[in-house]
Amino acid sequence: MTTVPMSQRRDAGRDARSAETGRTKSTVFVTASGTEVGKTFVMCALLEELSRTSLRVRALKPVATGFDAAERKASDTGRLLAAQGFEPATAELDAVSPWRFAAPLSPDMAAAREGKHIPFDRLLSFCRASDGYDFTLIEGIGGVMVPLDGRHTVVDWIAALGAPALLVTGSYLGTLSHTLTAAGALRAQSVELAGVIVSESLEQPVPLAETREVLERFLAPTPIIALPRRRGDGAAYPELLPLVAPYLDATRE
Ligand SMILES: Nc1ncnc2c1ncn2[C@@H]1O[C@H](COP(=O)(O)OP(=O)(O)OP(=O)(O)O)[C@@H](O)[C@H]1O
Ligand SMILES: [Mg+2]
Repeated sequence: MTTVPMSQRRDAGRDARSAETGRTKSTVFVTASGTEVGKTFVMCALLEELSRTSLRVRALKPVATGFDAAERKASDTGRLLAAQGFEPATAELDAVSPWRFAAPLSPDMAAAREGKHIPFDRLLSFCRASDGYDFTLIEGIGGVMVPLDGRHTVVDWIAALGAPALLVTGSYLGTLSHTLTAAGALRAQSVELAGVIVSESLEQPVPLAETREVLERFLAPTPIIALPRRRGDGAAYPELLPLVAPYLDATRE
């Protein structure tokens, strides 16, 4: 079993501070420079690594668009459930992704197509409801500046939760500007950047190691991890665990 040394964890006082400041404890938010770069892939890899600890982990994809019930197994929600050994029955889908919309559009547009909107306060309280869990992993939607409604974007969501962010990005041509722009948007709202994960791209590939090195020069001391391509969700990437280790619930052990 993997254990996370206490030296890598936040001090126990964080819990008390959480209550005072409204910060969401023991949560990491997985966001990205854009859509289809590997957020769900990284979520599944992290779930695989965390399954070897004794932690009770809650994996969420609160807002999902382009959701087709007939293809639920292949949806992000279905993939996150499968990574934890669950079937995508309606109750499980509701527990992971209560805001699901059919149109493959940004959340504000997809919700509007169904005469709905995403209530930002309820979205936050859903993410914060961590009773019975030691750690919550949240997958955002699209990139950091995707609109959720008429006023809020994904970065507003992360900032309101007070959660640290893992930024997933690719190794395609153009990724440097996209990644640094996304990191800047997170920093502008004082979101803690827990790490950047460069998930190797198939299209327009730029050498993975070189991409990581350039990002390291601009984003130091933020840890930057390069993920070479591997087949299927839940591939073993033990190098991911140290990125979330500082945020695991320090009240355990
Ligand atoms: N390092 C990798 N190795 C192998 N396949 C990968 C890797 N990274 C991403 N992929 C694949 O690329 C595709 C897009 O990745 P993924 O679905 O994780 O992106 P996403 O950012 O979650 O997209 P969305 O914005 O739709 O939520 C998937 O088929 C995924 O399995
Ligand atoms: Mg996804």
